Amino acid sequence: MKAPFSVAIQPKTPAEADKMRVAGRLAAEVLDFITPHVKPGVTTGQLDKLCHDYMVDVQKTIPAPLNYAPPGHRPYPKSICTSVNHQVCHGVPGDKVLKHGDIVNLDITVIKDGWHGDTSRMFCVGEPSIQAKRLCDVTYECMWKGIAQVRPGATLGDIGHAVQRHAEANGFTIVREFCGHGIGQRFHEEPQVVHYGRPGQGIRIEQGMIFTIEPMVNAGKRDIRMLGDGWTVVTADHSLSAQWEHTVLVTADGFEVLTVSPGMPAVPAFVKPANALAAAS
Ligand code: MF3
Ligand code: CO
Ligand code: CO
Repeated sequence: MKAPFSVAIQPKTPAEADKMRVAGRLAAEVLDFITPHVKPGVTTGQLDKLCHDYMVDVQKTIPAPLNYAPPGHRPYPKSICTSVNHQVCHGVPGDKVLKHGDIVNLDITVIKDGWHGDTSRMFCVGEPSIQAKRLCDVTYECMWKGIAQVRPGATLGDIGHAVQRHAEANGFTIVREFCGHGIGQRFHEEPQVVHYGRPGQGIRIEQGMIFTIEPMVNAGKRDIRMLGDGWTVVTADHSLSAQWEHTVLVTADGFEVLTVSPGMPAVPAFVKPANALAAAS
């Protein structure tokens, strides 16, 4: 998602980063909460309702997607995004029944105390095909290849290149129309964090910046289409698509992942131990 307005990037203060740490953890905890419910027979609408009630009643957070209306979009009608199989992102929950072998991305954004936390994971419903599992795994690695680039002095091109290279080395393609984004008191802020590019290009990363890395990776061609609901994005060739997302703070010497929770999947071994520790703290 792109930031609706172009404004100068304001690195967050340590006090603001603390607020974002809380929001980030809460967003990740919604994913932990919903995990046992992602089973054959459940509808995406039921997952939305369960998450909505958990956010509002248990966490006392606000589901950021609900009625979110960036320029050029009608208000988003639900509290989470559920993107199944060939759906790339922003899948609108409804009557769709999850069945054995489906893959689904659940994307959660909460607002706590005015600050946003944004994270998504892939879920396999029952046993996935080898191809579907490989797409989910490679996309997870793509997100972490990008995160591992984050430090003051690196560029956004370094992130995009690392993500793109890993996807394409595995025969997959990167969606270009949607990107990661700065995040804070607004859902989508500058900068745009695209998931392709060249090392050294783009703006320089500074300590205190907070942005998401959220690659969308297609098993087939990279082209996408928008459904008639004005939100759900699908692959043009109907090939499978996967996405993972974390919200990341730039620290003095690297990164800290803010969207951490007890149930998050393990950090890949290629992420340096020092940074992996930061991610787990
Ligand atoms: N959570 C998505 C992102 O990562 C944005 C969803 S916008 C919505 O940027 F309105 F569809 F919820
Ligand atoms: Co996001
Ligand atoms: Co998101």
